[in-house]
Amino acid sequence: MGGSGEAIRAKVRERYSIAATGRGSCQDDACCASGYSSVELVRIPAESVLGLGSGNPVRHARLRPGETVVDLGSGGGIDVFLASGLVGPGGSATGIDMTPMMVARASTAAASHNIPNASFVLAPIEKLPFPDAHADVVLSNCVINLSPDKPAVFAEAFRILKPGGRLVISDVVQERDLGAIEDDCGCVGNAMVREEYLKTIRTAGFVGLRIVEDRPWRTGPNGIDASAVTLVARKPAQEVST
Ligand SMILES: C[S@@+](CC[C@H](N)C(=O)[O-])C[C@H]1O[C@@H](n2cnc3c(N)ncnc32)[C@H](O)[C@@H]1O
Repeated sequence: MGGSGEAIRAKVRERYSIAATGRGSCQDDACCASGYSSVELVRIPAESVLGLGSGNPVRHARLRPGETVVDLGSGGGIDVFLASGLVGPGGSATGIDMTPMMVARASTAAASHNIPNASFVLAPIEKLPFPDAHADVVLSNCVINLSPDKPAVFAEAFRILKPGGRLVISDVVQERDLGAIEDDCGCVGNAMVREEYLKTIRTAGFVGLRIVEDRPWRTGPNGIDASAVTLVARKPAQEVST
């Protein structure tokens, strides 16, 4: 999947409008890989589970009651609902997604299951509708690889986190520059090469970056083409003076 930023976003939106109907998950098996236990899945609305993630970032987020969580590219809401249960009624979890049908599906699930501390907002993850220092935790699951402007996504995540706030994301990275490849899903075709991706996160200001899960995502004749990584990083507790 190549093209200009807007063309990429339009294609992604089109694809995930179909996925929001519960059909059309990626044909790539790895794309439907799920890292959730049955214990986790029974706690959340079944309609939020669309099999679109690349990991389970909530499991690594150490969420505490009362925390404010933002999920970038929330899809059907799976990670928002898991997070809302862990932060409890004194906390909140908000999903951001640019596909209207995804936001509608997740919002309907929140209302029909009476989960008031889970909400969903239609917006691009490159321009988040929150003030500075709003969130304790920013999550994302198999989304940033789709963005045509990854530095803007990490800059926005950094901006909306409180000092000391955590970034916990699962995503797909290329293991070498794959060039223009056939990739309907977009998860691999738009992904960054691993080292560049990690550098982009650090350049945004994040520190303490640790990869907590790492597994092959797509393998070709030359070995592993792309991997699914889950990583944790944080915004420094104090402003770094320059
Ligand atoms: C692969 S799905 C993952 C959904 C969810 N995180 C999960 O694990 O099930 C990608 C989601 O991100 C959304 N998305 C992709 N690019 C986006 C962008 N630039 N801004 C906002 N949402 C985006 C899509 O609409 C879709 O719902």
